[in-house]
Amino acid sequence: MPMETANMFNPASKVSKISHCSSMEQYKQMHAKSLKDPEAFWGEISKEFHFEEKVKGKFLDYNFDTTKGKIFVRWLEGAKTNICYNCLDRHVLAGKGDQVAFYWEGNDPADAEVVTYGELLKDVCRVANVLKAKGVAKGDRVAIYMPMVKQLVVAMLAVARIGAVHSIVFGGYSADSLADRMMDAQASVLITADAVWRGPKLIALKEIADDALKLCSAKDLKVKMNLVVQHMNKVTAPQPASNGTAANGNVAKKTHFDDKVNWDPLVDVWWHEAVSAASSECDPVWMDTEDPLFMLYTSGSTGKPKGVQHTIGGYMLYTATTFKYSFDYHQGDVYFCTADIGWITGHSYVTYGPLLNGATSVLFEGVPTYPHTGRFWEIIEKYKVSKFYTAPTAIRALMKFGDEPVKKYDLSSLAVLGSVGEPINPEAWLWYYRVVGDSNVSIVDTFWQTETGGHVITPLPGATPCKPGSACFPFFGVDVALLDEEGREIKGEGEGYLVFRRPWPGIMRTVYGNHERFETTYFKKFSGFYCTGDGARRDSDGYIWVTGRIDDMLNVSGHLLSTAQVESSLVEHPSVAEAAAVARPHSIKGECLYCFVTLTEGNTFEDKLVAELKNKVRSKIGAFASPDFIQLAPGLPKTRSGKIMRRVLRKIAVGDKDFGDISTLADPSIVEKLFELRPKES
Ligand code: WTA
Repeated sequence: MPMETANMFNPASKVSKISHCSSMEQYKQMHAKSLKDPEAFWGEISKEFHFEEKVKGKFLDYNFDTTKGKIFVRWLEGAKTNICYNCLDRHVLAGKGDQVAFYWEGNDPADAEVVTYGELLKDVCRVANVLKAKGVAKGDRVAIYMPMVKQLVVAMLAVARIGAVHSIVFGGYSADSLADRMMDAQASVLITADAVWRGPKLIALKEIADDALKLCSAKDLKVKMNLVVQHMNKVTAPQPASNGTAANGNVAKKTHFDDKVNWDPLVDVWWHEAVSAASSECDPVWMDTEDPLFMLYTSGSTGKPKGVQHTIGGYMLYTATTFKYSFDYHQGDVYFCTADIGWITGHSYVTYGPLLNGATSVLFEGVPTYPHTGRFWEIIEKYKVSKFYTAPTAIRALMKFGDEPVKKYDLSSLAVLGSVGEPINPEAWLWYYRVVGDSNVSIVDTFWQTETGGHVITPLPGATPCKPGSACFPFFGVDVALLDEEGREIKGEGEGYLVFRRPWPGIMRTVYGNHERFETTYFKKFSGFYCTGDGARRDSDGYIWVTGRIDDMLNVSGHLLSTAQVESSLVEHPSVAEAAAVARPHSIKGECLYCFVTLTEGNTFEDKLVAELKNKVRSKIGAFASPDFIQLAPGLPKTRSGKIMRRVLRKIAVGDKDFGDISTLADPSIVEKLFELRPKES
């Protein structure tokens, strides 16, 4: 029986006998070794992988101190490898070609497919050859804008196989966002699909991609090829209910797909046509371990997204090792991560981490509530999933439907349940543990970032006694510190800036095309430390509790957004003179957007304008960024130096009159006025 004492959850009995790390003592020893002798620690791990050439220079070289020169991190200097080879060929050569790499589960439960390692390798080689024939070479950037289909995994690995760099843009982003990212990366090829059903909704990806390509060509970016997966002819369309709404009650905007997508023969190429003509053999390009593997854009506090760049060797070792230990992965497990590959969680823990371990995973195209609210649990039962990884926002959304949709399914295969994306509230943690996990699993609350490449603070199943809501302890190679505003270290119990003192293999290496921004964003504030931008508390037992962002970022359903990014979309509307966006707590999304707008002369604040403004943000950024609240602001609370006092706006957003000291405001009376203008539904 698992023990629940004083809020401490013992490592679950299901994994403790077999886990890779089975006690706190073992964890402490391994962690200490990883810091004391990184070369010995990671050198041993690197033996599991294929390196075409061995390390020639230093195993680890770095500078984290801006006062001592340029920031850099280099692991495994001079070694050569290929991550695609390590994900696929290595397993196929070891006789695992027939093992399932992915169970693809479509948006509609009737749609499913099985992909083995052997098939995946052949498909990857074909696409690699298609890219090569178009002149894509080492170092070139390829943008990918796709649904959760196997071709997405194939595309990213094909890019990696030939030494090019992938830049995946989440399929929920708008044409503007896609174009911005393609421009920044100067991508020469785009890979997309005709469209996709997400729940009952149709997302016309090719149409959006066409709009993005027009924006790119207006700015002189010449895209050589748009490789388009024909997906819609293979999937089941949602059945609209008789009352005209889609099956789960949401009104579907478009209820059918017209297969005549617009076609530009100069750039558009059908994936299936190109691939069927291509050879299924393609030698991998042997790359330096420090060559770039991919970039992935993340919100920046200035509003302009940053192309977070990861390199091959360190990222490979780190995603493989975190996957193995955090989920206690063993051969025979079936693993299911619900994240979209368009986010870092999908990069590291749908594609690279699992494939590097030769794992079998579920690749899910749909959403948790379609066609019913038990969809995740149905999938877990269907494939006998043993390791499951999702986000607090999904857990909270599903909790709302009670225990019954969970209890309908046999979830006894589950051994480890993971959480990622934002702090998980203890109530959601306990529901996940008790209802989904039947009080007989390990919960792993994994803290990490796009920038960290993989988990940096996480419990280990079978080893770490958990406290609900705490990400617990640093992973191997991670050296955590908490600092106060002046950069003094807080030892023992206390709260401060969460920073890391030295590089682990998976840390980002630069911001694409802007190394200076990399240095200022992460290293300027505290010399000698990588600064996460999150706050954290260490309790008397040494557990780390991440408290959330301490910069101008907000976390909507696990997606980071910067307030500046939202504000600049709002002020593009001709009626808006100025805007300020803040985070407001939300019971399911974690946080939602609450925006204040001041209008230009002669405009009135009405429902039509609110709808237009919400649409503006959707079209500039994406639907997930749509504000929940927009209110009129005759003025904004600014200090005499013109800085918006956001803490006051956050109070107004939640209806709290405890404003604190507002005497430094240029016009303190504005606060009361803003409070009165709060929308009724808030
Ligand atoms: C937040 C997602 C608390 C945090 C992998 C971080 C978390 C940001 C957790 C990164 C967690 C992620 N507990 N907070 N377990 N996981 N965060 O780049 O604020 O999309 O800085 O990477 O999400 O978001 P990103």
